[in-house]
Amino acid sequence: MNHLEHKHDRAVRYFHWVNAPLLAVMIWSGLLIYWAYDPYEIAIRGIVLVKFFPDWFYHHLDLKFGLATGMAYHFAFMWFFAVNGLLYIGYTAWSGHWRDLRPTRRTPIEAFHVVLHDLRLRKEPLPPGKFNAAQRLAYAGVVMMGAGSVISGLAIYKPTQLAWLTTLLGGYQAARLEHFALTVGYVLFFIVHIAQVIRAGWNNFRSMVTGYELIPVAQEATPHVHPKPEPAASAS
Ligand code: HEM
Repeated sequence: MNHLEHKHDRAVRYFHWVNAPLLAVMIWSGLLIYWAYDPYEIAIRGIVLVKFFPDWFYHHLDLKFGLATGMAYHFAFMWFFAVNGLLYIGYTAWSGHWRDLRPTRRTPIEAFHVVLHDLRLRKEPLPPGKFNAAQRLAYAGVVMMGAGSVISGLAIYKPTQLAWLTTLLGGYQAARLEHFALTVGYVLFFIVHIAQVIRAGWNNFRSMVTGYELIPVAQEATPHVHPKPEPAASAS
């Protein structure tokens, strides 16, 4: 027999599922803007290891010549992204949900244990809790990244009016690089997040949609009738 247990508040689910498509629009429109001047690459001693981005990438995703469209979408949807994020942070602070997400001093080592556990290299069960240490690190980190994107975005959106902010982030070029690096971070987060969601299974995913998780009740816990003992066979 199974029973339903409440896992995710309605507000958290709402903010989460609104955030996902908003972030997709922000990344897509950001790429349309980035295409117009795309200087970033990872190179060692002049040898380019990764170029952000090769021509085929823009070509296949139809990201060329869309600067004006990108700016229009980016500067409109950023407000929804920022407001949704602020509401999520406000709700998290108000409801006490931040306690589920807050990393502690033990979180880094416990997150390492989670990785070993997931790779089946560690047998000990993980400490009980709503989120394991790796999730706490990832979720708290991605919320900070969201704040960083809005702040660095404002710094490069209005570098004259918000000159103090742009300067605080190291100048226009540094703020632009920070804004870009955070976007790469989301993509990496997303790949790991989706892999973990698939690994955790349908029940876990459904709880983020409905709010409830199905908990199987252990067989021993359910009352059951012992079979009547057979009368002992007579020795004579
Ligand atoms: C569209 C694809 C996505 C799916 C299928 C998905 C799925 C999920 C699921 C199932 C959980 C609950 C995890 C658990 O209870 O163990 C969760 C939580 C979370 N996800 Fe996603 N997610 C998606 C996109 C994103 C994106 C784009 C972000 C942010 C960049 C994100 C950030 C988070 C955060 C911060 C939490 C914890 C929320 C909280 O409890 O406050 N997710 N996600």
